[in-house]
Amino acid sequence: MGPLLEARAISRNFGGVQALDRVDLTVNAGEVLGLIGPNGAGKTTLFNVICGLPPTAGHVLFKGEDITGLAPDQICRRGIARTFQLTRPFAALSVRDNVAAAVLFGRNPRQIRSLDDARRAADPILSSVQLDGRKEAPAADLLFSERRRLELARALATGPELLLLDEVMAGLTVAETQEIVEILSALRRELSLTVLVIEHVMKVVMTVCDRIVVLNYGEKLAEGTPDLVAGHRAVIDAYLGVAGA
Ligand SMILES: Nc1ncnc2c1ncn2[C@@H]1O[C@H](COP(=O)(O)OP(=O)(O)OP(=O)(O)O)[C@@H](O)[C@H]1O
Ligand SMILES: [Mg+2]
Repeated sequence: MGPLLEARAISRNFGGVQALDRVDLTVNAGEVLGLIGPNGAGKTTLFNVICGLPPTAGHVLFKGEDITGLAPDQICRRGIARTFQLTRPFAALSVRDNVAAAVLFGRNPRQIRSLDDARRAADPILSSVQLDGRKEAPAADLLFSERRRLELARALATGPELLLLDEVMAGLTVAETQEIVEILSALRRELSLTVLVIEHVMKVVMTVCDRIVVLNYGEKLAEGTPDLVAGHRAVIDAYLGVAGA
């Protein structure tokens, strides 16, 4: 299958900081691509550029169309959804209504005519992330690990073809991490999603990803299968030697 997303020669400066330096990234339809690298490498900035942050230079193509710098709602309607490193649900709304809001914001405005329709559409999504039991709770009452799954549900609710996950497992216990890994593999099977995932837990990256791209100081350091990347000298020096587990 061909590329779903292509980021071409992306550079992004913040004042004097070069967060990204001519980074090329291709995400093929159906794959799970891991994006790794030390803190400050530019991983989240690359997500932001894919989601509409204007790059200093370069282009983002989705299904062959230039989407560089588009507004968040336009990016969403084309089929790209993301999670945020810091989750910010509508705290006072129920878990179910948080997901319903994302359904309304997303790609099916014609079939979804009312808030009730959106709530009904939210239910299977909540089951898929194992939050059925917490539907009526205000989002503010969720445990840390449940908030992560809500964040995932809200992204899924917009009906993406490409899902961008920014450290959805950070700070979770081994059991909670395993739970998300299982949720992701089920989603991948059922929805034929393409996933771009930023993750620090190397064990997860190595088992979940088909391919890995390594960023370091805003530059692409290496790219390849998990085995290839894990054996790459520069990657070990820059990253795995320090953060590897
Ligand atoms: N809005 C911003 N304004 C100024 N500098 C920024 C901004 N966003 C990112 N940066 C800088 O760009 C560089 C890359 O940051 P980025 O958040 O993309 O890294 P990261 O790889 O996601 O790191 P982490 O693993 O810590 O999440 C850092 O030096 C960061 O301080
Ligand atoms: Mg980040």
